[in-house]
Amino acid sequence: MTRSRNNDFPLTMFIGAFVLTLFFSYAQGIPDFSDLPPGPYCGAQYPALRCCDGRKDVCSAPIVGTLCYCDDFCDRNVTSDCCPDYWSHCKGMPVDIGPPKSVRASCFYEGKYYGHGHSTKENCNKCKCSALGRKPEMLCETNRCLVEPEIIDAVNYESDRLGWRAENHSEFWGRTLAEGMKLRLGTLNPAEYVTKMIPIREVYDPDKLPKYFDSRNKWRGMIGGIRDQEWCGASWALSTVDVASDRYGIISMGREVVALSAQHLLSCNNRGQQGCGGGYLDRAWIFVKKNGLVDEDCYPWTGVNGKCKIPKRITLDQTQCRRPPGSTRKELYKMGPAYRLGNETDIMHEMNKSGPVQATIKVYPDLFVYKSGIYRHSPTVEDSRTSYHSVRIVGWGEEIVSYGPPVKYWVVANSWGEHWGENGFFRILRGVNECEIETFVLAAWPKAIL
Ligand SMILES: *[C@@H]1O[C@H](CO)[C@@H](O)[C@H](O)[C@H]1NC(C)=O
Ligand SMILES: *[C@@H]1O[C@H](CO)[C@@H](O)[C@H](O)[C@H]1NC(C)=O
Ligand SMILES: *[C@@H]1O[C@H](CO)[C@@H](O)[C@H](O)[C@H]1NC(C)=O
Ligand SMILES: *[C@@H]1O[C@H](CO)[C@@H](O)[C@H](O)[C@H]1NC(C)=O
Repeated sequence: MTRSRNNDFPLTMFIGAFVLTLFFSYAQGIPDFSDLPPGPYCGAQYPALRCCDGRKDVCSAPIVGTLCYCDDFCDRNVTSDCCPDYWSHCKGMPVDIGPPKSVRASCFYEGKYYGHGHSTKENCNKCKCSALGRKPEMLCETNRCLVEPEIIDAVNYESDRLGWRAENHSEFWGRTLAEGMKLRLGTLNPAEYVTKMIPIREVYDPDKLPKYFDSRNKWRGMIGGIRDQEWCGASWALSTVDVASDRYGIISMGREVVALSAQHLLSCNNRGQQGCGGGYLDRAWIFVKKNGLVDEDCYPWTGVNGKCKIPKRITLDQTQCRRPPGSTRKELYKMGPAYRLGNETDIMHEMNKSGPVQATIKVYPDLFVYKSGIYRHSPTVEDSRTSYHSVRIVGWGEEIVSYGPPVKYWVVANSWGEHWGENGFFRILRGVNECEIETFVLAAWPKAIL
């Protein structure tokens, strides 16, 4: 506001007083600014004593020990302008759209001036100073954003009851909800494949299942970490490959600890799949069963569909891939047929026996701002937009709470990088099919060299 700012507080009070003066001037029937011809309006308000630094003309006024451009104190909605170079000099606007036209053709928005045609971004929405009507106006897109401060506030307001907290995940800021739903998820219509898969039934005693379980502790060094799918809707590929990788380490008892290539699946499982636009899990598992995968080092993640680099029916020797030391593997890493797990305890039994499983969840907008705690969809957050996502369940537990029975949860690895949630993981209610997480749970056995 001021040319030299060494006294902000009294200045603020001064501006307040000035605005008040203006208000009373209005009340006393002084003509509206817009009726005045362009001219030294502010100069008239502050009969020139001395002017701004280096200017010394009628364009500035002494205010609480500083000199200010008088325009700063004018009502900017009007078309008059007392200092023709105010816009270029003070606001850095290009001279060619300069005053007095610029005043007419500029928009004031969130404390700043924008020339006609200039734009800015407000979270995920672009705003542009456009002259559609009589007066230029800042017109903003009205997309829903991936991070909405209102959702964060709503969740944190009820976080005690909800059991989790929200935050502004900075990588998601500035993106639309539609982009997030498409490019941060990417698992297509589970209803279609789920009917094709047979749930398996095993005999076990559900009461003997432990209260806490973490596959990372049971199979140390064999469970993969957190990936970042980036802006590629391929959770279908990442979750499949990560479950397969974990199970290779487990079934081989550490002899084949491998990170398989999600890019291989993304780029080569292209029939009936949509790459970064989403994919079906049954087709992904069929591809891994028939063709197998190479490892991550050989075919690293790029986050774009890309052209398939590994021909079908190839042996490991025919690829350029290095074989892990001591390995006698000849074919690519293949998996047996995928099977489905029917309910909470079946899933737990399977995990205790064979390792992490793949789950599909219905994602509501509030999941994107999850920070910590045991997630459940907040009923106060509007939820007309949902989409499916697949993830890897790595464990479970329960949390003792003061207000009721322990809260049971799953521990789930997401694919949004380590900075999201609880170091890339989230916990979600268990046993109540929260966000359909217990409906579409899949696993498969690796074809390891035993
Ligand atoms: C000036 O514009 C702002 C924002 O468009 C508006 O809130 C304000 O009421 C306007 N002031 C006058 C005096 O018209
Ligand atoms: C969210 O984070 C981004 C990036 O760090 C930041 O620019 C933005 O101002 C933040 N938004 C809120 C509401 O805190
Ligand atoms: C969990 O797995 C261990 C072997 O790792 C086994 O001894 C135990 O019985 C299993 N528990 C259940 C409830 O299946
Ligand atoms: C899940 O199904 C099995 C039978 O397959 C049953 O024994 C078990 O009690 C069920 N668990 C739950 C939580 O319903």
